[in-house]
Amino acid sequence: METKVFHISDPENQIEEIAAAAAIIAGGGLLAIPTETVYGLGANALDEDAVRRIFEAKGRPQDNPLIIHVPNDISWLERYCKDVPESAYRLAEKFWPGPLTMILRRKDIVPLRTTGGLDTVGIRCPDHAVTEAIIKKAGVPIAAPSANLSGRPSCTTAAHVLEDMEGKIAGIVDGGSCTVGVESTIIDLTVTPPHLLRPGGMPLEALEEVLGEIRVDKAVVSLLSEGEKPRAPGMKYRHYAPKAPVTVVTGKAENSAKLIAALLRKDMGVICFEEYLPLFEEVEVRSLGSKEDKLSQAQQVFDALRAFDETSVSAIFAQCPDDTGLGLAVGNRLKKAAGFQVIDADGLAEKEIFGITGLTGAGKTTLLKEIERVGGFVVDCDAFYYEELAAKGDLYRALKNAFPAAFSKDGALDRAVLGNMVFGNEKELSRLNDVIYAQLPKAILAKAAQRSETLIALDAINLFESGLAALCDRTIAVTAPEEVRLERIMARDGIDRERAQKRISAQKQETYYRLHCDAIIENVGSEQEFAALAAKLLSHEREEIRRRKTNG
Ligand code: TXA
Ligand code: MG
Repeated sequence: METKVFHISDPENQIEEIAAAAAIIAGGGLLAIPTETVYGLGANALDEDAVRRIFEAKGRPQDNPLIIHVPNDISWLERYCKDVPESAYRLAEKFWPGPLTMILRRKDIVPLRTTGGLDTVGIRCPDHAVTEAIIKKAGVPIAAPSANLSGRPSCTTAAHVLEDMEGKIAGIVDGGSCTVGVESTIIDLTVTPPHLLRPGGMPLEALEEVLGEIRVDKAVVSLLSEGEKPRAPGMKYRHYAPKAPVTVVTGKAENSAKLIAALLRKDMGVICFEEYLPLFEEVEVRSLGSKEDKLSQAQQVFDALRAFDETSVSAIFAQCPDDTGLGLAVGNRLKKAAGFQVIDADGLAEKEIFGITGLTGAGKTTLLKEIERVGGFVVDCDAFYYEELAAKGDLYRALKNAFPAAFSKDGALDRAVLGNMVFGNEKELSRLNDVIYAQLPKAILAKAAQRSETLIALDAINLFESGLAALCDRTIAVTAPEEVRLERIMARDGIDRERAQKRISAQKQETYYRLHCDAIIENVGSEQEFAALAAKLLSHEREEIRRRKTNG
């Protein structure tokens, strides 16, 4: 099918174009329409066959209801909705036309196919003169989901729509870039208090002024567990997601920028506030607009997410505005794209993060115990790696992608096979490390951020190679004279001197740690003496961190 593009900027004078576009709707065809929020994929909402074609073109699940679009005339609302509460009239009075969808009870004239089988219907009056003229001319409400392929970021320009829909639909009305950029706010008025089902172009605060208390649906702020049903069926689907995994970093802009810079590797991408573009010049970067300008963030968020699909980045980090005003909607779209993988940079900035490393047999454990004794939390990074694999998240997917041969048919990693693939093969080993080091540090930080403890220790042999050191306030290495370590390893692991010696020679030497770490602690003397030394060093280093933090 050839997709006809209509350029309409002046609906009052381009009467023929409006009529031709409206004829597509009246004839049961699909027409992409501009609105102030995002482009919609429109059809006659009262025509079941036409509506079925919307689901087909988008690849949209049948149970995901469509919003119907009407002109700025309250009698249209009464035609399609029943038991309309007085609050709906107040909202329409104040906010029509605008980026607001109200969920109301459905009249029978609206087919169940349109509402995904629900007894309610989402209705909205878009703020776009061209689209309003088309609806009026067609004489029917237009059912329109966002015009993207299901799962992709919504379209904010006609070019985006062409990318996803060319050849599949009869026409596109090009009305320029969308002025709001995120979809409408959805408020369910069939319950008391009203529920916010999706934050969007109409700020929650504006609705609260009219409605009073509003309950925010759980699907807006978190990932639902399996079997949980959001009130807006569409909110349960993975959404807006570029191909690479996204991590959202919340918190003050300077904190999130710093954290992203520390986590970044060269093949990754960043979505940041305009002010921080220079910081990320070396990687693929897209602006989210100024940190002070949420409207510009809303206008750019989908564009930024979409743009990464033309790149080959392995992961994406995104800065995120706070939850007030349009920030709630922008943050929600980013977090959905991230599958709610979020790190709070402000919380982390308050913490004292230590990287602990050192020579085998030197007595790192004694220092870690001391950290726990004073109320700190220790992340055993090696053990965490295996936990992450078992959780089958980003790390698992990335490894499977890079080393498919190490995975059995049922998806389990065969550690021996992987070991053989990289053992003695420097190139493969470094490829493995690249994959692990790209995924692990952000997961470790996300875990640390969720902890209540202020003091956090990252226990890692490969503290520096992994990039974890960049996330630490201080790094400490534990060392001991070689003879002492030999004895310990022999006793601990029940091996002879020759094997213990071999193990030691295969590892880094003390000079390496002297060169890289902020502090070295040498384990000579008794365990008690070392514990006392560790306690002293720790309290000294913690003071140092606090001093630096208060001095900025
Ligand atoms: O700004 C917008 O709302 C855009 C433009 C084109 O108007 N449209 C849009 O539609 O975002 P769509 O289909 O991408 O998202 C509609 C959302 C889905 O999450 C759907 O589940 C929810 O609205 N929804 C629709 N009708 C509903 C109903 N009766 N009850 C609960 N949720 C409903
Ligand atoms: Mg959508």
